[in-house]
Amino acid sequence: MQQLSNQQPRETKHIEEESAIAPLEGTLQPGQILQNRYRILGILGIGGMGAVYQARDLHFPNVTKLCAVKEMINIATDQGLREQMVKNFEREAEILATLSHPAIPQIYDYFSFGDRAYLVMEYIQGKDLEGLMNGTDQFLPVEQIRKWAVEICDVLHYLHTHQPPIIFRDMKPSNIMIDHHRRVRLIDFGIAKAFQSGQKGTMIGTEGYSPPEQYKGDASPAGDMYALGATLHHLLTRSDPRLEPPFSFEDRPIKNYNPEVPDRMASIVMRALSYNFAERFPSAEAMKQALELLAPDVVIQTIASSETKVMGGSTPTPEASFAPEGVIPIWVFEAEDEIRSSPIVVDGVVYFGGYDNNLWAIDAKTGAQKWKFPTDGGIGSSPAYAHDTLYIGSEDRRLYAIDATKGETRWTFLTEGRIFTTPCVALNHVYFGSDDGNVYALKASTGRKVWAFPTARPVRSSPTVSGERVFFGSEAGDFYALAVSGDETAWHFRARRGITSSPLVQEKIVYFGSSDWTMYALDAETGFVVWRYRTRKQIVSSPRIFSGTVYFGSADGAVYALDALSGREIWQYETGGQVTSTPFVNERGLYVGSVDGNLYCLHPDTGDLLWNFQSGGSIISSPTVYDNIVYVGSTDYRLYALPA
Ligand SMILES: Nc1ncnc2c1ncn2[C@@H]1O[C@H](COP(=O)(O)OP(=O)(O)O)[C@@H](O)[C@H]1O
Ligand SMILES: [Mg+2]
Repeated sequence: MQQLSNQQPRETKHIEEESAIAPLEGTLQPGQILQNRYRILGILGIGGMGAVYQARDLHFPNVTKLCAVKEMINIATDQGLREQMVKNFEREAEILATLSHPAIPQIYDYFSFGDRAYLVMEYIQGKDLEGLMNGTDQFLPVEQIRKWAVEICDVLHYLHTHQPPIIFRDMKPSNIMIDHHRRVRLIDFGIAKAFQSGQKGTMIGTEGYSPPEQYKGDASPAGDMYALGATLHHLLTRSDPRLEPPFSFEDRPIKNYNPEVPDRMASIVMRALSYNFAERFPSAEAMKQALELLAPDVVIQTIASSETKVMGGSTPTPEASFAPEGVIPIWVFEAEDEIRSSPIVVDGVVYFGGYDNNLWAIDAKTGAQKWKFPTDGGIGSSPAYAHDTLYIGSEDRRLYAIDATKGETRWTFLTEGRIFTTPCVALNHVYFGSDDGNVYALKASTGRKVWAFPTARPVRSSPTVSGERVFFGSEAGDFYALAVSGDETAWHFRARRGITSSPLVQEKIVYFGSSDWTMYALDAETGFVVWRYRTRKQIVSSPRIFSGTVYFGSADGAVYALDALSGREIWQYETGGQVTSTPFVNERGLYVGSVDGNLYCLHPDTGDLLWNFQSGGSIISSPTVYDNIVYVGSTDYRLYALPA
């Protein structure tokens, strides 16, 4: 192969006046002409594989048509690696050439010579976000960042829904440009590649921005969402993730750096940054919607409906805009943070936990607040009720017993881990699991510890008591049947992965799901497998049984109905997101939430959709029905009361 300099006449002219850019540091000199067509004017940037030049297209002698020429220098000495790099380059060219989106630069040409390859594309007049940040020591306006984020979600949605899907894989400020129309443009598709499911690669991306799973070579749309989260965290805080310990965003709250950032904006970014990809936004589209709801005019509307603002029975509410199909909430109550806890209703009062640390008590008919009880941590689990007492665990590691009428503490019990299980009250005891790995049995009246049973990992599966036994799973994948006295394991079963789903016992069979994608039905006496049923993803949702059918959701997005005795499938219903919510079933309908933001009401016998209601966030907790009203919380901070 010939050297480039032999093939192309060298020109000694200086940078033309149309260019006002930095002096050259790349391998091409100003004035040099490539392919008899592109005259190099100057350098736009230098990156991992080479330089990006500004050039003029000489096929347009009468006008100045500018373009960007990206050079890739093949420095690999290993032949296989060299070929791989050329392939990467050609793939970038080909992918880009097939795309059509206003945020993606147009591709004009590509060619290679010996150890160099060139991509000619639309010249974007503007600055990349890293450059914009470095150009000031002030914070960029939060509202501006929000608008860019909406545009980035839009182009990610385009890429992720392309056939085949395209994973960008290197989202970071220096790969996002803002052009002279102030529009977002994504550059640097060098490592993007058509996504083939199940395909494993090596770590590609940029440390600090890349998601944990990309280190193992898993590229997915969820990984782009994480890197977008990291990019937004960087833009909002000015704290460069490349200089911080990996995955430390959780320990670096955005507010600590920049008090101007609204809580809701921060929580959207933190959700995108969830370590576990199942907890991130299910799609770029979902994140875009959440960001759009933060637009200043929308925020005013939601602030107006906060606290105890109550919507009367038949009056249409502003929230009706979420329900174009016509389901109008009876009332909407806005908590101070996400609702991940499932409500319970007792004697006309709805109780639920908020990530705002509070246990809330709300009048079931009117939505008026009765009381709120503050703990010192977020509440991700649901309350249990017995004898005018509510039992609830908090991330502050305590289990609380609260007077249900007055909202005052009866007793508390401190464990060594956060508590995500819903307590089970039976036989005058409270049973619950903690992230410290123990399942505890306390005296319900006093909170005195009767026993603690240690497991190897956190316990997030809520215990259930049936026939003198306590059943629960652990994150290690162990499932236990313990004597209620705590001193004897009746039997023990091992799933292949963690068990977060809470067990249900009916007709001497115990049912639970596992992160190994399987729903298990075991003989409650012996632990022998009665049947098992495999879905396409993790099962975090807990099973519910109604007239001989077991219902549950899966992270694969579907709701399943199986025959409880045989495990035979009766129907499946696909939602638009993961189903971690546990269904509520009665003769009128099956009610279940999805990460796609909807509450679905399905026909219990056929799985046909009866109606759905779109909330402004994800519904990861479970609905409950009381007096023909469905109560359900959403990560949009709201508890909805809908006509069942
Ligand atoms: N089409 C373009 N128009 C204008 N500037 C560009 C263009 N493409 C890249 N640049 C500039 O060059 C820099 C490096 O380009 P990039 O494609 O990200 O290469 P690398 O793979 O080396 O990171 C960018 O950060 C941007 O400032
Ligand atoms: Mg780059």
